[in-house]
Amino acid sequence: MEKREKFSSRLGFILISAGCAVGLGNVWRFPYITGKYGGAAFVLIYLVFLVILGLPIMVMEFSVGRSSQKSAARSFHALEPAGTKWHFLSYIAIAGNYLLMMFYTTVGGWMLSYVVKMIKGEFTGLDPDAVGAVFNNMLTRPGSMAFWMILTVVISFLVCSLGLQKGVERITKFMMGSLFVILIILCIRSVTLPGAADGAAFYLIPDFSKIKEYGWFDVIFAAMGQAFFTLSLGIGAMAIFGSYIAKDHTLTGESIRICLLDTLVALLAGLIIFPACFAFKVNPGEGPGLVFVTLPNIFNQMAGGRIFGTLFFVFMSFAALSTIIAVFENIISFSIDLFSWKRGKAVAVNLVLIIVLSLPCVFGFNIWSSIAPLGAGSTIQDLEDFIVSNNLLPLGSLGYLLFCTSRYGWGWKNFIAEADAGKGAKFPQWSRIYVSFILPAIVLFIFIMGYIQKFVK
Ligand code: PHE
Repeated sequence: MEKREKFSSRLGFILISAGCAVGLGNVWRFPYITGKYGGAAFVLIYLVFLVILGLPIMVMEFSVGRSSQKSAARSFHALEPAGTKWHFLSYIAIAGNYLLMMFYTTVGGWMLSYVVKMIKGEFTGLDPDAVGAVFNNMLTRPGSMAFWMILTVVISFLVCSLGLQKGVERITKFMMGSLFVILIILCIRSVTLPGAADGAAFYLIPDFSKIKEYGWFDVIFAAMGQAFFTLSLGIGAMAIFGSYIAKDHTLTGESIRICLLDTLVALLAGLIIFPACFAFKVNPGEGPGLVFVTLPNIFNQMAGGRIFGTLFFVFMSFAALSTIIAVFENIISFSIDLFSWKRGKAVAVNLVLIIVLSLPCVFGFNIWSSIAPLGAGSTIQDLEDFIVSNNLLPLGSLGYLLFCTSRYGWGWKNFIAEADAGKGAKFPQWSRIYVSFILPAIVLFIFIMGYIQKFVK
């Protein structure tokens, strides 16, 4: 068997994991969900979930990956006690990674196409309705949407085909570095706009009345879903990177760094978007169209808007691509682990497979738009997002939690030994009761309540 390639540096590991975590969840989903649920109060709940729920699960994923030296397709087989069925979790992981990409690549394509639209100045001089129409027109054209989706998929697989160090690590490091620079430039621009303060207040000062309006469970469910989503938890997407590192540093320490980077990007993305919305009097509760419909309007009214707009969509594209590359790395390693394929073959087969699987999402906005799987107005994308974000991520996370804490699984002792190997922060032993019993109960409870809220109303 080929020797397992490792990352060339610790920074590589941290930035790739952060690249996997930092994605559309931070720069697209987080701002619009925050806008919808009324700003700062939602942000507060979300932050609590990141710490009490996201962080421990991330440590567990990395531990399973590092100890097994396998992707999620094989890691449970390697660590489970003989005769047990924990490896069923690998199906959740595999399905989750593919299903996520089935709608994610489409949005990635939107981002790339908006970079080009911005460079070409396609929005210059358009009124707000016309800007909105650009987005809606794009959705009605399956051919061009498929083109951008396919371009996204091809670029990302190309990076993966170069190998772990030469492709994934090198390119992602570059993208994440640029992403931070652009992020800071855009933040400074946005918060110094006249009238930006109201936006900052909406975003930073909690107002719990909005939460009453939606109902606590809806909001908590959304915050929990967002915490899983933004940290890429539950489907082994992170675990793989644990399998590419040595035991020099504790996994709690590394996870804290990655969570901080992810949270920083989400919070700063909000700090770009909300002050700008308020400065130019546009509604931040726009929903998924927020960054595509609202923001080009803002750039239109801003001095130098074409340059800032282009930078903004380059930033969005890097966030999306770094996640897609990371998840493709997972998908490739599933094939390698399961069928002992060479990387080249795994890339070729999955390239075709992902393009085909991504088409329903593209067509769901036009030729198949009569399909409304989650009620009037919903799309195939909504269904795929719902299956992944509200089902596979929490259920998979529950799986990792139980696997790492139950004596019928991998068990607490093995987990702690792996998590704590190396220098750095240790996993708190006193939290054992919490992560073994209370946390799984919280996840399950909120998961079930979320269903009741969604479908029984
Ligand atoms: N964390 C990614 C984002 O924020 C999405 C993701 C979820 C990636 C689950 C992998 C697994 O965009």
